[in-house]
Amino acid sequence: MNLKIGVVGLGYVGLSTSFGFALKGHNIFLYDIDRKKLDLLNTGKIPIEEKELKDVFPEITKRINIVYRLQKLHYCDIIFICVDTPMDSDGSADFSSVLNVATELVKNKVIPRTIVIRSTVPLAAIEAVKYIFRDKKMEIVYNPEFLREGHALTDFLNPSRIVLGTENKKTTVLFDLYKEFHAPIINVTIATALLIKYASNVYLAMRVSFINEIEAIAEYIGADIYDVIEGLGFDKRIGKKYLSPGPGYGGSCLPKDTMALVRMSEEAGYYPYFIESIHRKNEQQIRRTFLKIKKACGNIFEERVIAVLGLAFKKDSCDMRNSVALRIVEKLKKEGAIVKTFDKCINTRDNLLKVVESSNVIVILNADDFYFDINWEEIANYVKSKVVVDPFNKIDKSRLIGWKVY
Ligand SMILES: NC(=O)c1ccc[n+]([C@@H]2O[C@H](COP(=O)([O-])OP(=O)(O)OC[C@H]3O[C@@H](n4cnc5c(N)ncnc54)[C@H](O)[C@@H]3O)[C@@H](O)[C@H]2O)c1
Repeated sequence: MNLKIGVVGLGYVGLSTSFGFALKGHNIFLYDIDRKKLDLLNTGKIPIEEKELKDVFPEITKRINIVYRLQKLHYCDIIFICVDTPMDSDGSADFSSVLNVATELVKNKVIPRTIVIRSTVPLAAIEAVKYIFRDKKMEIVYNPEFLREGHALTDFLNPSRIVLGTENKKTTVLFDLYKEFHAPIINVTIATALLIKYASNVYLAMRVSFINEIEAIAEYIGADIYDVIEGLGFDKRIGKKYLSPGPGYGGSCLPKDTMALVRMSEEAGYYPYFIESIHRKNEQQIRRTFLKIKKACGNIFEERVIAVLGLAFKKDSCDMRNSVALRIVEKLKKEGAIVKTFDKCINTRDNLLKVVESSNVIVILNADDFYFDINWEEIANYVKSKVVVDPFNKIDKSRLIGWKVY
């Protein structure tokens, strides 16, 4: 089976979906409202930092069609909507981009056999899309994505499960499309499918907030958090994954999806206190990190030079959207500190020495080994004071003789 597949929205989800299906032999038509992204793709470049996509691009170029007008998706059998759904001011998901795409498709008479919503959305979004396509002979499927940034293509090609939210279990062409993927297909109602997606992300957020809570208690009672994790993780029911303390979670998914689930549930008539507390704990953790930095600065920010290492929202990624590091940098600046930043995605090693030069405090805000394996002996010659803040509790203190570690 060789299908013509349209993909609207070329971020992490849209590009991995496009490239993944192209590798499976389908012809892909890619559209984004951002012309710069289309121009970059046209010159063989990938607009996001995903090495795997870069590596396979030459192999699939002939099956990749970049289009500058939505009308060109007219010939597609299936269209995947992969646009962003950021957090609105009240915490709910802003799904206006999904509705804009649906409206534009109808306006341009682009009505494929199947529309697949891949963006993470609440039920109200699906209802609104259904309304936009009312009277049209086609099916609407909700097929969430579970990829990890930094491994987007691998995760697309090797999914742990494929969730298809459909109205009519028999009709979807997606069963054929996903036949070759070696993963269980979970075919459920649309409401169930979107709750699987939200519950998956909120569960991960819960593990992060949980271990950050335990880490705080460990600090207060004088326990070793990594020994605690070891002791917890050998229990097969618990495991060790997603149990690493840190400055709090950020990024474009966990914070917004946690709050979106709270709002969706609230609107349906049930207030999920427990899920809301995951978000609150995260905010508390970000504050704790900030206060640790303040303490390391001697409780004064004015005139203090702070070198922040690691700006991406997590290790293995260069994505800085809604990163905790950037939030903390902004707050430090507001409080009067002189902040210099370094990230291995954008700076060179020479920059590192310039950034730490004359600093009073070094703060590590990304868990990548790079920031822990720097040459501390060399760095010591550049800093003003040998003080480092490590909210991950990961630094090897035996390599930092004479340093104060917070
Ligand atoms: N990034 C992840 O790790 C991840 C994982 C699973 C699910 N998701 C979900 O998938 C969705 C997309 O996430 P992403 O990280 O790929 O987003 P992204 O911000 O990286 O990309 C979204 C793209 O959609 C485009 N777009 C917006 N409005 C458009 C319109 N009207 N017409 C055409 N293009 C338009 C933007 O220009 C952008 O290129 C979100 O709902 C997100 O929550 C993300």
